[in-house]
Amino acid sequence: MQLKKLTLSHYRNLKKHTFYFSSFLTLVVGPNSVGKTNLIEAIYLVLTGHGIKEDKHEELMTLGQRQTVIDCQFAEGDDKIICRVIFEKDDILVKRYFLNKLEKRYFEFSKYLPPAVLFTPQLIESLTTEPFRRRGLFDQMLSTSDVEYKKRLNNYMSALTKRNKLLERPIPKESLNEELSFWNKYLVEQADYISKKREELCELFNKSKEIGNFSFEIKHISNVLTIERLENTLEEQLQRRTTFIGPQRDDYRIFLNLNSDTQAFDVETYGSRSQQRLALLWVILNQLNLYNEKIKRLPILLLDDIFSELDEVNTHLVIDVIKKHQTIITTNNIKIAENIDQHHAVIKL
Ligand SMILES: Nc1ncnc2c1ncn2[C@@H]1O[C@H](COP(=O)(O)OP(=O)(O)OP(=O)(O)O)[C@@H](O)[C@H]1O
Ligand SMILES: [Mg+2]
Repeated sequence: MQLKKLTLSHYRNLKKHTFYFSSFLTLVVGPNSVGKTNLIEAIYLVLTGHGIKEDKHEELMTLGQRQTVIDCQFAEGDDKIICRVIFEKDDILVKRYFLNKLEKRYFEFSKYLPPAVLFTPQLIESLTTEPFRRRGLFDQMLSTSDVEYKKRLNNYMSALTKRNKLLERPIPKESLNEELSFWNKYLVEQADYISKKREELCELFNKSKEIGNFSFEIKHISNVLTIERLENTLEEQLQRRTTFIGPQRDDYRIFLNLNSDTQAFDVETYGSRSQQRLALLWVILNQLNLYNEKIKRLPILLLDDIFSELDEVNTHLVIDVIKKHQTIITTNNIKIAENIDQHHAVIKL
């Protein structure tokens, strides 16, 4: 399914606009603060159920307005989908989703829509700062492409909270051991699945290491959870009142190999800004591969401000690697459009 048309009414600063998209590349061009990211975000909201940078859904509504409407048309061959998202704010915010004019719950509404793969400059920070943000990025990909992963991760996190409560307020030793042994077993079962899937994700990514002349590699640093490790460190867990072993402490590292003469280096520690930007591009291109393999619905690629900080060579590299998918790119550099040979549409904001 490809996005053909989008109409926004009172979405952030975009009061009433209709946009048409190419099946391949659409460039959204305009000066700062005109609403380019907001347009990308509205598409992302329809496809994923959440915006890019909001804490609460009502932040997506134009300030002072009580109703926001997003209308979309998707098509593939003779198949067409019309969908509508309405946010209404009175005392509370009501979200309503319509698929071909029938009201649905979000889960049903989104089932037939393409998955979204997003690049935003903020995601570079997620990739290169704290481990929990990196984990969040990869967990989101895994959860979107594997419902069982999403379920196991939720199970794991809620069981972990319960176990940590026990460590905070210890009960008599005998019943503590009994309760802990129940949670230990349960956590290890969930953790085994989670770790296996994280490992497989890295294996898949490492099958396509190259992007242009760059070669990236990802490593999963697993904090292995076993009953033995949990039992051996119980005293310290009780002192620190937390479970400090397990996939909630996993990390991922991305290495860049420039050529065979130099040593591969960790992009977070040694990478320049443009190398970190390209590392994120590499990650999301692999996210496309993951979705193509697991979801079987062609994703839409949303690239917000990907060109800033990239020189001409790397700008062309980006355009070369996105060719196969419907892609929407925002930029404030109109010259980019003049340099693209392939067929594309331009939306001027
Ligand atoms: N809920 C809202 N209601 C009204 N305006 C909003 C709302 N949320 C954000 N805005 C405004 O929308 C405008 C456009 O923001 P956006 O991030 O889309 O700009 P942009 O075109 O991507 O700019 P840049 O080139 O700087 O990235 C900003 O002025 C912002 O303050
Ligand atoms: Mg922007």
